[in-house]
Amino acid sequence: MSIRVGVVGVSGYSGLELMKLLLRHPVAECAVVAASESTGPKVVSDIHPQLRGSCDLVCQPPDPKVIAEMGVETVFLCTPNEVSHELAPRFLGYGTRVVDLSGAFRLRTEASYGPWYGFEHSAPELLRQSVYGLPECHAREIATARLVANPGCYATSVILALLPLIRAGMLEPGSDICCDAKSGVTGAGRKPRLDLMFGEVSDNFRPYSPIVHRHAPEICQEIGWELEDFTFVPHLLPISRGILTTLYVRFSRPLTIDEIHAEFQRCYRDYPLIRLLGGGRLPDIQAVAQTNCCDLAWRLTARGRRGVLFSALDNLVKGAAGQAVQNFNLMHGLARDLGVTLENHC
Ligand SMILES: NC(=O)c1ccc[n+]([C@@H]2O[C@H](COP(=O)([O-])OP(=O)(O)OC[C@H]3O[C@@H](n4cnc5c(N)ncnc54)[C@H](OP(=O)(O)O)[C@@H]3O)[C@@H](O)[C@H]2O)c1
Repeated sequence: MSIRVGVVGVSGYSGLELMKLLLRHPVAECAVVAASESTGPKVVSDIHPQLRGSCDLVCQPPDPKVIAEMGVETVFLCTPNEVSHELAPRFLGYGTRVVDLSGAFRLRTEASYGPWYGFEHSAPELLRQSVYGLPECHAREIATARLVANPGCYATSVILALLPLIRAGMLEPGSDICCDAKSGVTGAGRKPRLDLMFGEVSDNFRPYSPIVHRHAPEICQEIGWELEDFTFVPHLLPISRGILTTLYVRFSRPLTIDEIHAEFQRCYRDYPLIRLLGGGRLPDIQAVAQTNCCDLAWRLTARGRRGVLFSALDNLVKGAAGQAVQNFNLMHGLARDLGVTLENHC
């Protein structure tokens, strides 16, 4: 059995990462790749030399009708927000299921799109239908979804660290959550930008978009927290890939390391790629780079009334393409981690 898929935005960073996973996937068959007009009809391995010898598909325009007629069952949109916003309804109209890696369908209300994304949303009905593609939370809904909104990379790292405590009601209601997150440069995509040039990024370290980063509303929506009680400060690391997030939280009562450990174990016992380092070890980016893993750890302070949580993942794998493959698997009744286990990455 094979399932024909398409990748739109193949010339970008998450497009490449997705191709690497799909070409080794035992069920997905990548039938079509697309990019913008500026890329034109290029062979994909001429864009990404890593794919030499493994893929000679030629980029075509992202025409939903043509792609549906090629028997493509599911399309991955690795495209900017506005492009996904325009393409997803058209693909759905031809019966093609969509996994969208952008933020175009992550927020529930169309009114949020003006302030946070800078465009008016024209498909509010799809915002209600789309499923937030975090497999650890929404596996059942993802299985029947026609449109999956793959979570943001920072958002994935933050939500996975908070989820067990939120579910167990261990955080003090209405307390401040402070989040200090750092990402490698590929998080900003492949389009050239002056502030992302080697000379600007190397031997440097800086915050950007403090408080107003668009992953903040997405995180608060998922964890059910007020935006004004969530302080999010992303930073740019002088490395190519990976995210390390540190969260500062207040508990509703004094907790022990063992209580927290038990809650994380309960939450993630069926998720071997969520690796619990507990109160002893600490995560680092090298340990998760090129994998679909998220490593989590925690520490207590103030005699157990406050905690510090740590989360590390690869922004292009668990934060983008790997999670998209998990969503594809769930949508097609396959084992959730098919093609993204540690053996697939080693
Ligand atoms: N990078 C990450 O770590 C990460 C993580 C999670 C989610 N995301 C999200 O995933 C999406 C892709 O991110 P990325 O980092 O891979 O971006 P990227 O490297 O900048 O690639 C963007 C891709 O979109 C294509 N594209 C742009 N306009 C298009 C159009 N009108 N029609 C068809 N294709 C078009 C580009 O093609 P051309 O080369 O032809 O312009 C390119 O292939 C974004 O929405 C991003 O927010 C990224």
